[in-house]
Amino acid sequence: MSRKDSVLITGASGEMGHGLIVRQAAAEPERPIITLDLKPLPADLSPKVHQQFHGSILDKELLASIQTEYAVDRVYHLAALLSTRSEFSPELAHKVNVEGTLNVLEFTQRQGESHGRSVIFFYPSSIAAYGLPTIAAKAAAGKVNEDEFNQPTTMYGANKLYCEHLGRYYGRHYKQLAAGPPTGKVDFRCIRFPGLISAETLPSGGTSDYAPEMIHAAAAGKPYACFVRPDTRIPFMTMPDAIDAIVRLVKCPRGSLSRTVYNIGAFAPAVAEIEDIVRGAFPKCGVITDVDEKRQRIVDSWPADVDDSAARRDWGHQPAHDLAAAFGEYLIPNIRKRYS
Ligand code: SER
Repeated sequence: MSRKDSVLITGASGEMGHGLIVRQAAAEPERPIITLDLKPLPADLSPKVHQQFHGSILDKELLASIQTEYAVDRVYHLAALLSTRSEFSPELAHKVNVEGTLNVLEFTQRQGESHGRSVIFFYPSSIAAYGLPTIAAKAAAGKVNEDEFNQPTTMYGANKLYCEHLGRYYGRHYKQLAAGPPTGKVDFRCIRFPGLISAETLPSGGTSDYAPEMIHAAAAGKPYACFVRPDTRIPFMTMPDAIDAIVRLVKCPRGSLSRTVYNIGAFAPAVAEIEDIVRGAFPKCGVITDVDEKRQRIVDSWPADVDDSAARRDWGHQPAHDLAAAFGEYLIPNIRKRYS
């Protein structure tokens, strides 16, 4: 228990949680971090956290007990079922990704009411919120801005897009017909992430997983059957740059934010380019192509690249890693070390 201003991270045991806990603990060591996840945190992260709650964002009683024990003034709501997994259990995905988000937004609103000021709610959306109708349309579209092609084909993408709207509702229009001044206390901020690649962890259940899986398999000396065509292109970013972006957006004064949802990008390689770099670094790697037409269709519906000019203008999005730096300075040296 702590009445100090605390940070709540849901889905903290996942890939992004890993990077965020390390960064948050280093940046503000005096600020308690509390986590909520079905799974316990890895042993190296536990000491960085004030308290771990093991359970689901669907458990309202658990959220109510966190409410009474902690004064939370910032929420990073990372818990979700990713896109591939969600296609196998769409109803569960909707429960976790939408109802769970609603529960955490309500939690945040109640926290704000109890301390009489806004609580920042960071929400990770995704390029999965897009749905390009054909490969030709994808090629013609080039860099898409936030408001184009918002017709996702996946349950996960539909969940993300809807929760962006839900967040905008809580952030700007909450109980707009109630008497008196506005009572909304959620300061909702959202990034649409590209595919993310970490040297430390592997994703589970995503559709952009082919890139991280290929790199980690090559370094581990394992064969890898890539499930998309070599010409397939979507944007990617390194995990440290993704965490940097979250920190920048959360620190930005509210008045500078012209949108609630921001695209961010860094590099957008075709699969063949990733494979070439991986082969250069790990000449013995056993990458083959074995296209899964259904997963391919999902990746084909995601944009080849994103227009992130709003993020660059409003809060200084500036990834440190382009394609060469991502591999040369971050991924290859760190992944090599990890598997050696
Ligand atoms: N990278 C995620 C996935 O593939 C999308 O946000 O599911």
